Amino acid sequence: IAPIERTLAGLRAQTVLWRKAGETIGVVPTMGALHQGHLSLARAAREKCDRVIVTIFVNPKQFNDPDDLKNYPRTENEDAYKLESIGIDLIYVPEPDQIYPDGFATSVSVSGLTDMLCGESRPGHFDGVATVVAKLFTQTSADYAFFGEKDYQQLQIVRRMACDLDIPIEVIGCPTIREEDGLAMSSRNLLLSDRSRVYAPVLAVVMDDMRDKLRGGALMADILPGAKARIMAAGFNDVDYLELRDGGDLSLLERSKPDARLFAAVWLAGVRLIDNIAV
Ligand code: PAJ
Repeated sequence: IAPIERTLAGLRAQTVLWRKAGETIGVVPTMGALHQGHLSLARAAREKCDRVIVTIFVNPKQFNDPDDLKNYPRTENEDAYKLESIGIDLIYVPEPDQIYPDGFATSVSVSGLTDMLCGESRPGHFDGVATVVAKLFTQTSADYAFFGEKDYQQLQIVRRMACDLDIPIEVIGCPTIREEDGLAMSSRNLLLSDRSRVYAPVLAVVMDDMRDKLRGGALMADILPGAKARIMAAGFNDVDYLELRDGGDLSLLERSKPDARLFAAVWLAGVRLIDNIAV
């Protein structure tokens, strides 16, 4: 099992040696409860980098809802076990004060990209993400960072942040890993009841169908009502958003064009699920 490091000093003692030896470092930031989506990022890092650090930190600053933070699955032992077969070099599980020491007063806020989609329904969420990721980048001094397209808006925000703050790291986006029935893997899927889990894949099915229609030239305005109705009829409680956007600047689109992506967030029995696909 890879060594677990809980202090910044311990992490730096290790990375300093790797840097001295001229080795490249890859980091995979996570909040734990690891599934095949996370593990695919760790494998991509393992292929590209001499040394791989997986970080596990349930970041309080990015949760809007205290219950959501409290209920977030924490499975450190299983996580360490799952990472074993990939052969990563270090698991960084910082104590909260290693990230947010007493008196911590700085926030990283990326404007524009954070105003829409999940930014609208989760105020402050992406400031929390940008702040912790900036810290994880500087704490690990990694050369490469691996993020999933599952959280596409997050990926674009992190890219913007690293570029704007001159953090010398290359952010690499990796494809969304799905269950066999098409449901995008997510730690939150663990919170679904057996019954909800049966309906959950309908979201991906409807999105694939929308993609086919958009590729055929359909307008969002024409296909949206039917798509929403199908989602609601399947037993979902609410559609937070279902939008076509540019994959670069995330601007809203009415019809498909190169690099267009379809984004969705829905509620299913108290669990918020998100997904996005290239059109
Ligand atoms: P978390 O939700 O644990 O996700 C960690 C990384 O795994 C993210 O880059 C996410 O996009 C990726 N991921 C999740 N599900 C995936 C899937 N099905 N396929 C591919 N990649 C997937 O995202 C966060 O944590 C946090 O916001 C974090 C970046 C760690 C900052 O706290």
